[in-house]
Amino acid sequence: MKSLRVGLCGVGNVGGAVLKLLKESSDLLEQQGGFSFELIQVGARKGRSAISYDDIDVTTNLMDVANNPDVDIFVELIGGTDFAGELVRAAIKNGKHVITANKALLAVEGNEIFKLARKNNVQIGFEASVAGGTPVIKALREGLVANKVEWFAGILNGTSNYILTEMNVEKTEFSQALLKAQELGLAEADPAMDIDGTDAAQKASILAALAFHVPFNFQAVNYEGIDKVDVEDLRYAEELGYSIKHIAFGRLVDQTVFVSAYPTLVPHEVILSQVGQQMNALEIYAKGIGSTVYYGPGAGPEPTASAVVADLVDIAKGGWQTEPTVMSENVLVSESTIKAPRYFRLMVRNEPGVIAKISAVFANQNISIEALIQHETKDKNTGKTEEVPVVILSGSVSDQVVDRLLQELNEMEEVANCLKQFRIYTKIN
Ligand SMILES: NC(=O)c1ccc[n+]([C@@H]2O[C@H](COP(=O)([O-])OP(=O)(O)OC[C@H]3O[C@@H](n4cnc5c(N)ncnc54)[C@H](OP(=O)(O)O)[C@@H]3O)[C@@H](O)[C@H]2O)c1
Repeated sequence: MKSLRVGLCGVGNVGGAVLKLLKESSDLLEQQGGFSFELIQVGARKGRSAISYDDIDVTTNLMDVANNPDVDIFVELIGGTDFAGELVRAAIKNGKHVITANKALLAVEGNEIFKLARKNNVQIGFEASVAGGTPVIKALREGLVANKVEWFAGILNGTSNYILTEMNVEKTEFSQALLKAQELGLAEADPAMDIDGTDAAQKASILAALAFHVPFNFQAVNYEGIDKVDVEDLRYAEELGYSIKHIAFGRLVDQTVFVSAYPTLVPHEVILSQVGQQMNALEIYAKGIGSTVYYGPGAGPEPTASAVVADLVDIAKGGWQTEPTVMSENVLVSESTIKAPRYFRLMVRNEPGVIAKISAVFANQNISIEALIQHETKDKNTGKTEEVPVVILSGSVSDQVVDRLLQELNEMEEVANCLKQFRIYTKIN
């Protein structure tokens, strides 16, 4: 049986689980994968104290692993971009295949890393970088290779999805839901990149490179996070037949690719609206086959380690071509020209004629109003209210037109505040 020698850097959540899998499930891997893997060196800056196996060579200088001439496959699980990038580039230059779960590194430096890998004739495995244990990279790379992908839509950040689910079900505010996610170990101590949308946008840019054959271009991805969503919005959305989800979206129109990640109202009949808690899901629409949907755990040590080890087996089998194929005619551009129906929540003066005036502003921008909610609200003390919320669902509209609409609304003395504006999911095919 062919045996490959593995060097691992980083023994945190994911690295620790990879270490355990390789040490304790080697028989299963040999039976099911057909290869054996020998973990010959681990890089951990805390040294041996970070590792509970005595028979492993541990170094506190992680570059030793990338430079170790006996290592065939280098596994990077430290995260971040600076040192992780240095390690990965060194390993590639030393002729080692590389496996990484690092979406931040690939989203920003993917083109350079894959180019270097091609030059050095080595493979890069990155299944764990998107949707953790759910094999979506493999689906795009292999299972759907006979089809032209036209769009994808996915819930790619488990932390955000958990928080939105908690806010919707328990009616807790964002800050409380985030705290609970942290207590349960579902959110990092610093969850900024999860909740501001960066993490999902990085994953979407990786998917776009594979799905639409464009270079990695994180800069062209437009995104916002779930920190903009209030319990109020979830409640209105439910009333109108929608869930609010953080949706990463990629689309090929002619030869133009648009990629985004936004809090989005998703109709209850769409599968993605039913994906709760910390789960991930990705719907991929390809010409010929139509929609396929992938659902599963998007993070966590064991699911992510499972994807890392699957890449080990793939590379042992000979892998695939070194980089996502680029079709030069396809171009990834900023999303701003794409139109989507919208949800607006405004605070308006509680007086006759206001709704008619607001409707006129929408009409002025040539935007249709598809639904409108204004509930009777009374101040507990006085019995009347100065300002009331109004929720409007509009027809499809571009970002530029939304900007003009909001400017006009904000100039109206009857409108106290345009509080929120979210996209509404529309099925394209
Ligand atoms: N956790 C998940 O569910 C998940 C899912 C998908 C992908 N990923 C990706 O997997 C990678 C690892 O994530 P993780 O959750 O395992 O992170 P983690 O628990 O923070 O572990 C990172 C490990 O790398 C070490 N490390 C970090 N920076 C270092 C540096 N400059 N020099 C030396 N060692 C360094 C840390 O050492 P110390 O212990 O000494 O700090 C720690 O052992 C990241 O790229 C992440 O995006 C994670």
